[in-house]
Amino acid sequence: MQILLLGPPGAGKGTQAKLLAERLNLLHLSTGDVLRQNVANKTALGMEALPYMESGKYVPDDLINRMVEDQLDSPAAAEGVIFDGYPRTLNQAETLDALLERKGRPIAAVIVLDITDDELVERLSGRRVCSGCGAIYQLKSMPPLKPDTCDHCGAALYQRVDDNEETVRTRLKVYAEQTSPLVEYYTAQRKVRHVDASQGIEKTFERVMALLGGEG
Ligand code: AP5
Repeated sequence: MQILLLGPPGAGKGTQAKLLAERLNLLHLSTGDVLRQNVANKTALGMEALPYMESGKYVPDDLINRMVEDQLDSPAAAEGVIFDGYPRTLNQAETLDALLERKGRPIAAVIVLDITDDELVERLSGRRVCSGCGAIYQLKSMPPLKPDTCDHCGAALYQRVDDNEETVRTRLKVYAEQTSPLVEYYTAQRKVRHVDASQGIEKTFERVMALLGGEG
């Protein structure tokens, strides 16, 4: 099963994708996470992507498409994939359609997470991420038990470089210009299902599962 999560920065794509991947036993493919790993490992791809990421702009399509093609060739992708943050441009959407068609694995559903810009800015400025296991926290709605420490693995939490208000506003603008047209693209394919992402994490997950035909 191939499922796409579409939504602006901070809508909860990563949070929902983790839950879905566990529940449905699918690969969670986050292009943002793969890029951040490349940045941390100082690979050529990471160094090329870094200035775009720091300023809230999109990394060029050809780099991203090649990266995703590699991931889809891995055995972990055989059972199906939750796509988190990919595709984000028409070029990426058309590339993914062609790749999946070649593999005979069509997209089952595109879940669109709907939420207002003001809520997103507040969510992202309070987001913290675990440097060890990647768990995601929010200082207001999902704080860690001990300040700056991951509840699961005890590693330190950090704030992403692109989670300051100015960069978040750029990311929202780029999303509106380049990614929101994909809702129409997938609506034409009759794959889109909308979810109100301003509800809590559990409620949103229940709704997503219901839309996918399962229980939350
Ligand atoms: P990426 O890492 O994908 O960032 P993003 O799309 O901006 O999305 P975020 O990770 O910020 O948010 P999210 O929707 O996953 O929300 P989360 O679950 O964390 O990409 C980063 C950069 O990499 C891009 O700007 C670009 O430069 C580059 N890039 C990546 N993919 C690319 C591509 N395909 N093409 C080109 N460039 C690409 O939740 C956010 C916060 O809210 C958390 O603190 C969470 O705890 C909290 N929260 C989540 N859900 C709820 C809820 N229901 N209620 C209350 N709080 C909630």
